[in-house]
Amino acid sequence: MGVTIKVTDEAGVNYDIQWEDHHTLLETLQANGVPVLATCGGNASCATCHGFIDPEHFEASGERTEAEQDLLDMVDDVANEYSRLCCQVEYAPGMDGAEIQMQAAM
Ligand code: FES
Repeated sequence: MGVTIKVTDEAGVNYDIQWEDHHTLLETLQANGVPVLATCGGNASCATCHGFIDPEHFEASGERTEAEQDLLDMVDDVANEYSRLCCQVEYAPGMDGAEIQMQAAM
């Protein structure tokens, strides 16, 4: 099981990553060497793990949590309708082929 995603970090470096079930998107990024500050440790309270999901796969990334939505509302100069906090994104088969652009928000 697992899906393949494409990630571009803030410096423009591209990664092809295998995302396995039972891992959050943040855990997968960190395990594959994508630089993500994640200063709150995955608790939806820092927005340094913010990224944009491509429109085609956004729905598959699931519903934003309430804490996530509150935080995204506070960083709306960076966030948009395709924003997610990667620590809050659970594995989903529908994310196969997703493209994710990292953009920390603080
Ligand atoms: S790691 Fe802090 S909000 Fe995701």
